[in-house]
Order: sequence, then structure tokens, then C-alpha cells
Amino acid sequence: MSKPAAIGILISGRGSNMAAIYQHIQNGVVDASISIVISNKPDAKGLDFAKEHGIKTSVIEQKTFNSKEDYESEIAAQLESHGIELVVLAGYMRVLGGGFIHRFEGKIVNIHPSLLPAFKGLDAQKQALDYGVKIAGCSVHFVDTTLDGGPIIMQEAVEVLDTDTETTLSERILEKEHQLYAKAIQWVIKTKLPQWRTTCGH
Ligand code: GRF
Repeated sequence: MSKPAAIGILISGRGSNMAAIYQHIQNGVVDASISIVISNKPDAKGLDFAKEHGIKTSVIEQKTFNSKEDYESEIAAQLESHGIELVVLAGYMRVLGGGFIHRFEGKIVNIHPSLLPAFKGLDAQKQALDYGVKIAGCSVHFVDTTLDGGPIIMQEAVEVLDTDTETTLSERILEKEHQLYAKAIQWVIKTKLPQWRTTCGH
């Protein structure tokens, strides 16, 4: 048995995807350990869950740095000092710069509450309702320098009901997110991580 993947999770808020990943790790579905959770918001609810479950947390606020590059360098340095093999964005509400993305080239994943490439950016569920699509959903993708771009890893569809509001649709999509993200992360760990470890000489 190879050692669990060391993952670092970036959050900005509620952290329900982070919590779901943690639960899937506990249940043996995801072969990983969460080495650190970093939030750019000191009041992110997800930090409470992480602390209660003994996960190392760190708050790094952009406003305490002179530039976005310096801010992201600090995040990268903390991830590297924890030996992170995969960076997981879970409701991290900032667009990462090229410097950070190149430092972890191909090793950053994100979840977005739409069937990409439709409805990128904020309020994806509202965008779907406003457009009138009948099938919405969520996508897990590798992160590149484009907003909600990068190769798609897995997607899950959710039917849009005539009675749906933004809240009800978001809730049903979120339930799927909590399953899909774990499945996609496990796929990355099984199929990509062995190659990365060989390249790094681990
Ligand atoms: C999720 O809907 C995710 O798809 C999007 O931001 C939301 C984060 O929710 N990127 P949570 O913080 O994981 O509860």
C-alpha cells in the first residue's frame, strides 16, 4: 500500500466540500490525508470544522501583502512546506495567478456548480436558472490560468425542476458535489499521483 496522498485544501467560506472530502477520507473512499487547510478569510466557517477535527489550519489574507504575487507565494510556500502533492480548491473565491498555477502545474483541482463550459464564474446556479436550462450540475476540473477552465475530470447532472429557486437548485447540486469531488480526487490519486511521485523521485 502506498502512502496516502498529501492534500492541501484552500477555502474561503462554508467549507462543506472540504468537510465531505474529510468524511470520505475517514470512510476509506479517498486515499489521502489533509495536511493543511488554508483560508483567505479569518471568519470562514470551514475553519471551525477543520479545527474541531484536528486538521492543521492557516489564515492568509491578501491585504497583509504588498501584491497578489507575494500573497500567493506565501500560500504556495506553506503548501510546499507541508509536502502537498495535490491542491484542492473548495469554495476558494479568488482567481489564482499564473505564478501559483505554474508552481503546482497540473496538480490543482477545483469544483464548480455547473456543467462546464456553461455558466462559468459567480452564481452559476442562478445563471442556469436564468438561462432556463433543464439539466444543471457540477464539474470537477484541473485548474489552469483561465477562469473555471482547464481539463474536466468528472461531471454530474442535476435535473432542474419547474419549481426550483436558486436555493433549492443549489442544495441539490451541492449534494452531488459532495460525492463527485471525492470520486474525482480519488481518480486523480490513483491515475496521476503514481506518475508524479516517480517524476519527483519519491
Ligand atoms: C460550491 O458550490 C463549489 O462548487 C463552489 O463554491 C461552493 C463552495 O461551497 N466552487 P463550500 O464552501 O464547499 O460549502
